[in-house]
Amino acid sequence: MFPYKTSLQLNKALKEPLYLQLANQFILLIRNGKLVPGTKLLGSRTLADLLKIHRKTVVACYEELLLQGWVESIPKKGTFVNTKLPLTQKTAITDSFYISEKEYSGFSFYRNDGLLEKKIEKREGVMYINDGVSDTRLAPAEEIARIYRRIASRKSIPTFLDYGTTYGNQKLREVLATYLNETRGLQVSKEHILITRGSQMGIWLSSQLLLNKDDIIVVGETNYASADITFLQRKARIKRVLVDDNGLVVKEIEKLCKKRAIKAVYVTSHHHHPTTVTLSAERRIHLLNLAKKYNFAIIEDDYDYDFNYNHAPILPLASHDTHGNVIYIGSVCKTVAPAFRVGYLIASKDFVNEAAKLRGYVDRQGDALLELAFAEFIKSGDLDSHIRKVMKVYLERRDIFCKLLKENLADYFKFEIPKGGMAVWLRLNKQYAWSLVAEEAVKHGLVIGEWQRYDLANKKHNGIRIGFASYTKDEIVLLIQRLIATCKSIKKAL
Ligand SMILES: Cc1ncc(COP(=O)(O)O)c(C=O)c1O
Repeated sequence: MFPYKTSLQLNKALKEPLYLQLANQFILLIRNGKLVPGTKLLGSRTLADLLKIHRKTVVACYEELLLQGWVESIPKKGTFVNTKLPLTQKTAITDSFYISEKEYSGFSFYRNDGLLEKKIEKREGVMYINDGVSDTRLAPAEEIARIYRRIASRKSIPTFLDYGTTYGNQKLREVLATYLNETRGLQVSKEHILITRGSQMGIWLSSQLLLNKDDIIVVGETNYASADITFLQRKARIKRVLVDDNGLVVKEIEKLCKKRAIKAVYVTSHHHHPTTVTLSAERRIHLLNLAKKYNFAIIEDDYDYDFNYNHAPILPLASHDTHGNVIYIGSVCKTVAPAFRVGYLIASKDFVNEAAKLRGYVDRQGDALLELAFAEFIKSGDLDSHIRKVMKVYLERRDIFCKLLKENLADYFKFEIPKGGMAVWLRLNKQYAWSLVAEEAVKHGLVIGEWQRYDLANKKHNGIRIGFASYTKDEIVLLIQRLIATCKSIKKAL
């Protein structure tokens, strides 16, 4: 006899009624071939006795199975697994993935080897090096939640819950226009602003609208890997120019412009990603003049504008753009926390209109309530207070991090103290390799992550970014200890 007692397990503590628990378990047994079509099920009284449940529960279960077509009832004979179920003996038995992990799809699809996997599975006790992100423990989550809740209880809120514009919440666009005009010297109105889910969406939209196969985009020889990959996905040609202590070497861009038409330059002007240097004033003006003369776009990714320790923030290229050449991209994801997906793309109206249309096909609209909450958070001055608060903390962390690096690891790494941002650009001495350091670090409870992405152009600079902002002082001490232990083991093995 089929082992009903061990195969059917009911739990009275669950909310799901017993008859449904039973029916669902029968369905699984039929689906995975354990009860094949034509099998006679136990009579309701016998099964009820066996499982120590009321007979009515079994009757209700069989009625449910009958209704769904899994069983058939033959008068005076009993209840049988439906012989007309389109389950062959073979498929039923090999169909075990139905209840397991569903690891493989039953259809083919296009895989894309050009994309980096963003896997973040964190294990207790292990430290994960990041690229320069904020400390989410300092994020004003409760404050934002309070504003969100207050907004959600307003009478007018149902209109914001409806399908709306793809440009993003109007109030946030207005508040941002004022805020960015006052703090970053922009001269824009809400019509120049598209709210995005973060900077990456701005990069993606720009790339879709600017680039086609073989179009040329200029980036630094070191560059933000996700931007490179986004451009390559358009089959554009990436031309790389030198990056020195003053950022992109704009003279090289001029040379390129004289030879061929370029569509765009991608620049992280405030703190070059990954090396953290600032694009000098002279190069900013030069780049803007070139864009005007040769009619190309400047994608200015101002991902961490707010964090400057040695000087006042430098006004973005966008604040000097009189000819509509700059697409200015930013977000609150670095300033507040990555989980708050609120960003912006600011450009000429025609570009913003097109980007807004396109955005609707990858993400119909943003989170209108969250956008409204951020409008209030910015307007009330709370964003600025938050920035002032965390800046002090990050400055201390930068100093401790750099001091410990210098005191303990100068034999292994070269670095400059970053003037802003949340990461240090760390170059490993040439006799060592990041591949070995990363492998060894794991043994010391430190995960270095995707170190390869910092050298997609294969320049062999041996550098990676290490974020300092998200660790407390004690965590920084621990991280450096682990790095010291790693480096010592590597040196010994050489
Ligand atoms: C240079 C740069 N641009 C853009 C982004 C993406 O930011 P967001 O989270 O706002 O999409 C990052 C994130 O690390 C970044 O480092």
